[in-house]
Amino acid sequence: MTEINKVIQNKIAIDKLNLFYGKFQALISVSMPVQEKMITALIGPSGCGKSTLLRSLNRMNDLIHGVKITGSVLLDEIDIYNSSLEVAELRKRVGMVFQRPNPFPLSIYENVVYGLRVAGIRNKKESDEIAEKSLRGAWLWDQVKDKLDHPALELPLDQQQRLVIARLLAVQPEVILMDEPCSALDPIATMKIEELMIELKKDYTIVIVTHNMQQASRVSDFTGYMLMGEMIEFNQTKNIFTNPSKKLTEDYISGKYG
Ligand SMILES: Nc1ncnc2c1ncn2[C@@H]1O[C@H](COP(=O)(O)OP(=O)(O)O)[C@@H](O)[C@H]1O
Ligand SMILES: [Mg+2]
Repeated sequence: MTEINKVIQNKIAIDKLNLFYGKFQALISVSMPVQEKMITALIGPSGCGKSTLLRSLNRMNDLIHGVKITGSVLLDEIDIYNSSLEVAELRKRVGMVFQRPNPFPLSIYENVVYGLRVAGIRNKKESDEIAEKSLRGAWLWDQVKDKLDHPALELPLDQQQRLVIARLLAVQPEVILMDEPCSALDPIATMKIEELMIELKKDYTIVIVTHNMQQASRVSDFTGYMLMGEMIEFNQTKNIFTNPSKKLTEDYISGKYG
């Protein structure tokens, strides 16, 4: 659902990106834009490189031994692989939510303000304000406001996932990467996260990996279909699902493959 009042602007530009795990090439000359304050979905069968591509947007693959990357990823026109942009700063600007919620074994409050602590912010009033704002932003405030000192790991899974989102919001990212964020959740919790994503895109740029095509078609503005490391087709979501230009895409979305 591309809103006309939004100026379409590239937040990220991926250009001819190749990624090797040792000798195995997992991304093959992938090019794709990520538009600002839109939701971009990556779909495709298991093992096609969706998570690899997502991780390359905040250099998470750097942590994996033997990875080699060529091509470019521009964030606001700055090459994240070839500039003085620090990885820590990049990961603050481009945050990530994983399949399994990963709160720290700390209280709910300490989870939300974790990034502030790392940044050296200790002021209680400021921390409290940011914690409340972030928890509200992740639609979790009402559920947790009376038990902020409780362990985060006691929360139900869907609230843990929203807590992880609140923890990201507290450091004011620009881009939120989500790798199958609903795969551990039931349908009602999934719907809630999808609604939250649509709310968050007013302020944030979101890239989501999903193996659930209905989810991609419900939430995203743009969709990239990947197969065996290649970007087969990238377009507005409605075009991908109603009028794909490639036979391979059509086969996949009609369930003939994958
Ligand atoms: N750390 C790794 N080391 C070696 N190969 C990997 C690693 N991570 C992923 N791969 C391989 O890269 C390909 C793409 O994986 P991935 O990006 O996880 O796909 P998807 O998210 O679409 O399921 C797969 O063949 C997978 O086995
Ligand atoms: Mg994956």
